[in-house]
Amino acid sequence: MSGELAFLASDVEAGYGDVQVLWGVSIEVRAGEIVCIVGSNGVGKSTFMRCASGLLPLRAGTIAIDGVDMSTASSADFVRAGVAHVPEGRRLFSAMSVRDNLLMGAYLREDKAEIEADLEKVYASFPILAERRKQDAGTLSGGEQQMCAIGRGMMARPRLLLIDELSLGLAPRIVDLLSDQLRVINEQGVAVLLVEQDVMNALELADRAYVIDRGRVTASGEAAELAADPRIREAYMGLA
Ligand SMILES: Nc1ncnc2c1ncn2[C@@H]1O[C@H](COP(=O)(O)OP(=O)(O)OP(=O)(O)O)[C@@H](O)[C@H]1O
Ligand SMILES: [Mg+2]
Repeated sequence: MSGELAFLASDVEAGYGDVQVLWGVSIEVRAGEIVCIVGSNGVGKSTFMRCASGLLPLRAGTIAIDGVDMSTASSADFVRAGVAHVPEGRRLFSAMSVRDNLLMGAYLREDKAEIEADLEKVYASFPILAERRKQDAGTLSGGEQQMCAIGRGMMARPRLLLIDELSLGLAPRIVDLLSDQLRVINEQGVAVLLVEQDVMNALELADRAYVIDRGRVTASGEAAELAADPRIREAYMGLA
């Protein structure tokens, strides 16, 4: 994996039509970090992830990668800059094979010779995908689909992996497996920005975290500190 990463979103505003969703969100991811965004339903987490991968235009604010302004860049520019997005709901092509879905992640790559080798790495990380490589993605279980979506992201050789809802709807055993695999990916030099409903799991996995409420960052800091904060424990973990 090449290069140090610095991803910096500053005062991002974004929305849909007449509805503004994000009101000045600033989030940073540094090389080597796992950063998570937590917050209740509908507060704008996925909207931020769409901005962070160039899928949704900013109305105000900036996004920079390695100091280069990406505020008006296309989603393909973000991929080329090293950002891969694993979207909410996984968005696989259900009538295409697992292998072809994985290859979709490499569509902008020029180094065709290395793509097969990276496919083997994904299969090594998620052996069940190797077993099912010829099967349509639509026939996979939820956990296998998430593995396939993460694998597809890795096929872009990202420096920053954006994952929107890692654990939603998955059994604890599968969530543990995915979390372990994310740590391995991170140790290989890929920074991770994660949106997660399961706040406890997210704060265990992450180095730092941001809390978003109604389109604004309301708390941020070291994940361990936030996990110990009584306000966070009460509001997001149901703990007193
Ligand atoms: N494509 C869209 N068109 C119009 N409004 C949208 C669109 N996508 C999201 N919204 C609205 O923007 C707001 C924020 O949605 P977003 O999906 O970013 O929230 P979220 O924090 O990811 O929620 P969840 O935890 O349920 O995934 C919501 O009010 C939602 O209805
Ligand atoms: Mg969402």
